[in-house]
Amino acid sequence: MLKLDLSYAKSFLPEDYLTSRMEALDKARVMLAEHNGPGGDFTGWVKLPAEYDKEEFARIQKAAAKIRSDSQVLVVIGIGGSYLGARAVIELMGSADHRLAANRPEVFFAGNGLSTDALCELMDYVADKDFSINVISKSGTTTEPAVAFRIFKDMLEKKYGKEGAKGRIYATTDAHKGALKGLADAEGYEEFVVPDAVGGRYSVLTAVGLLPIAVAGVDIEALMAGAAEAMEELSKPGADNVAWQYAAARNALYQSGKAIELLVGYEPSFRFFSEWWKQLYGESEGKEGKGIFPASVEFTADLHSMGQYIQQGQRILMETVVKFDKSRREILIPNDPDNVDGLNFLSGKPLQFVAEQAMRGTLLAHMDGGVPNMVLEAEARDERTIGQLIYFFEYACGLSGYLLGVNPFDQPGVEAYKKNMFALLGKPGYEAQREELLKRL
Ligand code: PA5
Repeated sequence: MLKLDLSYAKSFLPEDYLTSRMEALDKARVMLAEHNGPGGDFTGWVKLPAEYDKEEFARIQKAAAKIRSDSQVLVVIGIGGSYLGARAVIELMGSADHRLAANRPEVFFAGNGLSTDALCELMDYVADKDFSINVISKSGTTTEPAVAFRIFKDMLEKKYGKEGAKGRIYATTDAHKGALKGLADAEGYEEFVVPDAVGGRYSVLTAVGLLPIAVAGVDIEALMAGAAEAMEELSKPGADNVAWQYAAARNALYQSGKAIELLVGYEPSFRFFSEWWKQLYGESEGKEGKGIFPASVEFTADLHSMGQYIQQGQRILMETVVKFDKSRREILIPNDPDNVDGLNFLSGKPLQFVAEQAMRGTLLAHMDGGVPNMVLEAEARDERTIGQLIYFFEYACGLSGYLLGVNPFDQPGVEAYKKNMFALLGKPGYEAQREELLKRL
């Protein structure tokens, strides 16, 4: 299981950082377990690793096998919580670089923005390939994925005919309502469900994440098993609970003025896990004028760019380092008889050894520079550990939101830009707001 090393944060934390929060943490635990705290209607994810729909899970695996047999590319269309989790797991299990990932079919993501050029690139790429689509939208009405779906659906229908296309479109959406649900019913697409009680950013372990993840060749049973282990472990109250330790420590650091948390990874494949984490924490905590701002860096690359700020900029940072114990493979540093670069003192040493010293040196330097570091120790970059990490961060996020005194399961602020966009686009019903906005622009 995961461990949290707080030795590089200790000097920034009051002695009683955990004991003084135990009562509040226990209340939060009960609210999560009993689904009766603020936003309790959206805490279906808490028991998901044990109580997921096994029949649907089997259908996901069957659909993934079909896509793997008839498609060179899967285009996954979704945004925010309907996008980031799948990409996080696929990249972390494989590679940040599509060309190097050994998974076939290739999984590409669309509908997560409004870039014409990005969409055109993907359309060109899939034009002469066999492809399928997994369109994911809980509400079924989000503009970005809806627009992308129109485009790829049209391509698919031109390529395979309406009937052929139907067998290549998989819709993941609400069980009962929404435009996508209506369309999927009418067209006869295979459907998967985003459960009512699970919000977008907590949905990676539902069909939202699992179908694309399975298509990429990741063992989703092992992923769920890892999450179930974490669920079991983290449901136990007390000072040994790693999620309690993390939630309490970051809350105490926030109260001492550390307003920004950097999630630190040392693997390029971790980048989208950080993106997923940023949405999870940013949308859950950032409200009512409160909340830690979640950001991320990739070391050692960013030590040569952001490292300066982290070491000596405004002292409002804390870092959470996710450390994987083992590399999958080993590279030994070769000897060079000329030793022009002066690195022969490292000859024969594993690259992993160099990486470890870089991490240890950075932890000390940043701590000395006034940045507390929490180190989350994970075993390997495998399905089981990633399942644990997902559940750990989700659970700790629920606890953190309740400690902060906000509803960690709503996102009222996301609506503001959407309303303005609809008004400017001329959507019926937004006429008055459109007038207002046009005057201001
Ligand atoms: O966390 C959230 O609720 C959001 O990020 C949504 O997931 C995102 O806006 C996409 O929504 P939908 O799945 O309804 O298209």
